[in-house]
Amino acid sequence: ASLAALDDVVPASHRVQNRFLPAAPMPTNAFHNTADTDPAIAANRVWGRAILARAGASTLGINTVETSMVRDHDQLDAVFAIATSEGAHWSALSAEARAEILHRAGEILEVRRADLMEVMATEAGKTLDQSDPEVSEAIDFAHYYAEQAKKLGRISGADFTPAKLIAVIPPWNFPLAIPAGSTLAALAAGSPVIIKPAALARRCGAVMVEALWEAGVPRSALQLVNVTTRELASALVADPRVERVILTGGYETAEHFRSLREDLPLLAETSGKNSIIVTPSADLDLAAKDVISSAFGHAGQKCSATSLVILVGSVATSERFRHQLIDGVTSLTVAYATNPLAQMGPLIEPAHGKLLDALTTLDTGETWLVAPQQLDGTGTLWTPGVREGVAAGSHFHLTEYFGPVLGIMTATTLDEAIGLANAVEFGLTAGIHSLDRQEIGLWLQEIQAGNLYVNRGTTGAVVQRQPFGGWKKSAVGAGSKAGGPNYLFGLGTWGIAASSD
Ligand code: SER
Repeated sequence: ASLAALDDVVPASHRVQNRFLPAAPMPTNAFHNTADTDPAIAANRVWGRAILARAGASTLGINTVETSMVRDHDQLDAVFAIATSEGAHWSALSAEARAEILHRAGEILEVRRADLMEVMATEAGKTLDQSDPEVSEAIDFAHYYAEQAKKLGRISGADFTPAKLIAVIPPWNFPLAIPAGSTLAALAAGSPVIIKPAALARRCGAVMVEALWEAGVPRSALQLVNVTTRELASALVADPRVERVILTGGYETAEHFRSLREDLPLLAETSGKNSIIVTPSADLDLAAKDVISSAFGHAGQKCSATSLVILVGSVATSERFRHQLIDGVTSLTVAYATNPLAQMGPLIEPAHGKLLDALTTLDTGETWLVAPQQLDGTGTLWTPGVREGVAAGSHFHLTEYFGPVLGIMTATTLDEAIGLANAVEFGLTAGIHSLDRQEIGLWLQEIQAGNLYVNRGTTGAVVQRQPFGGWKKSAVGAGSKAGGPNYLFGLGTWGIAASSD
């Protein structure tokens, strides 16, 4: 679509490309408001070039990764020995004392915002507009779970016994917020933690753990473990001394974990194949903006990302929506995250397997509305792709790809659109753009997903406001939504406290 054609359809002031990402990154946090007013924090909160100028030489976290390497079973046993001896003292602290340390952790994460953003850019390819709210989310988890710990302390009396040990197995795609959230929840509930960061994001995990140690979490209560083999990772998860495993990762990983140990006490948030439905009553400019940011933020590497946009009725032939989508997508600045102008960064690894297929091949009846292009020889840097004509039941309709490809489907009615959305085996997030209350009501009733968003994108759940967790194959095991009022309750056992005879 040429820009001249666009001028005929959409006035410049309404162009999605001008407003789909804020010019300066903004925090999304619900609790933490000091960053813009406290000069000390503001000075440390280095935007753009200042952070990234030094990123080339970044060594943050490297030493801690090295000292936490576990290379054999004896070393792993030593970790368990600490967790179950000195680590157990953590459970004996009062809820107030734990909460105080967690609040301090939130403050230290804020002070270290620039460091955290730097390591997320250099190690995990997170652009500034993504890493900044991610730091805010981690801070939110600290303050929220601190308060939840106090609440749990008040209501539970002797009835709640925290798990004696929790293993945290986070993903690489939110290399700070998810490891921090899971760890802080476990600590808040009163359990010592062993965390094994994703192999692709070890330094991010290390810098997060360093911040929590600095806040006063004892090293025995929070042990960082990086393993050299998959077998050691399995041994960590399968050890019967682990009373809860908090996993965020692919569905297959959750299944693998369950195969390791009967009755594995697993709380797993897994895969997604998420849609936004756009009806004719919607604000189409807003819909295009939200679809683009949800599909291509962090190059689509989010379990919460929008992978399908389902256009209902006349939206399917709307020139305006089509132009906004093309214009917004093609105007994204794709670059390595160390470039402060980058709006979409690289993939964590060279595209391969099903993602490479999705970036390079079309199914019968599909065409590229915007064809993805590989920008350099590394296999990681791709421009975003949008495929039209995705058919019901096709590969693209039903498969999670975890990358920068969006599929367009069409439906005659909202009912049909909901049917297409629900046909997938996952159910993590879902969105609708509609200004019609009846449509929204129908969708809320029928859609099968854990997190539902009306006239908003499907990513970036805000702690406390939008507790996060899935349905169908997007959740495995027990557990309530992360960042919500019941999450800590699942991290221990309820009932008359175990007798001590
Ligand atoms: N909490 C993240 C989001 O909402 C996904 O893990 O995007």
